[in-house]
Amino acid sequence: MLNIALPKGRLGERVYRMLKQAGYPCPELEEPDRRLIFENPEAGVRYFWVKPSDVTIYVERGAADLGIAGKDILLENRPELYELLDLKIGVCRMAVAGPAGFEDHRERVLRVATKFPKIAGDFYAGKARDVELIHLNGSIEIAPILGLSDVIVDIVETGKTLAENGLVVLETVCSISARLVCNPSAFRFRHDEVRMLTECLNSQIE
Ligand code: PRP
Repeated sequence: MLNIALPKGRLGERVYRMLKQAGYPCPELEEPDRRLIFENPEAGVRYFWVKPSDVTIYVERGAADLGIAGKDILLENRPELYELLDLKIGVCRMAVAGPAGFEDHRERVLRVATKFPKIAGDFYAGKARDVELIHLNGSIEIAPILGLSDVIVDIVETGKTLAENGLVVLETVCSISARLVCNPSAFRFRHDEVRMLTECLNSQIE
């Protein structure tokens, strides 16, 4: 069976529906209980729900052959795995945001609060801008309000969280979406199964 790590939550449920349509259903998974591992030997799949930011850990270490991870996690953690498909769902963008009318004075070090220090660091290094990165784990939007940082680098989906906290997008860093990722050994040694699933899933992408 192919072991597939699904990100727990709405995105994972959507991905499962695509996999089901693609010919990889798992009736056990649709039952309302709290189990985390489900299998359907007939379809040749075992699914498990994991925290979205942990998907790449399972895939990189081979506990999962395949997984679905956001491009944000891939850019931030740079795991050693293959990216096989852009599923074109979970679409959002990574952006710099701050108070409306914010002006960056280059003679001062810019204080940037973020959950994504590597992405933010690369972005500003590319502009040769000196920054102080402040690594937070959530509720990033309050950092500029409380004077902890000048700006934030964070995910913007609908823009509602920014708007409701009086912030605006200042610059877009990159676009983000969900990707099908594969363990390199599984790609080599289970190539036919992996390729078949990838092709079937590809046919479900809108
Ligand atoms: C994410 C992100 C923003 C929000 C953006 O937060 O960090 O806060 O979603 O979505 P929106 O543009 O649709 O409002 P998440 O829900 O992951 O919470 P956290 O940052 O506090 O962990």
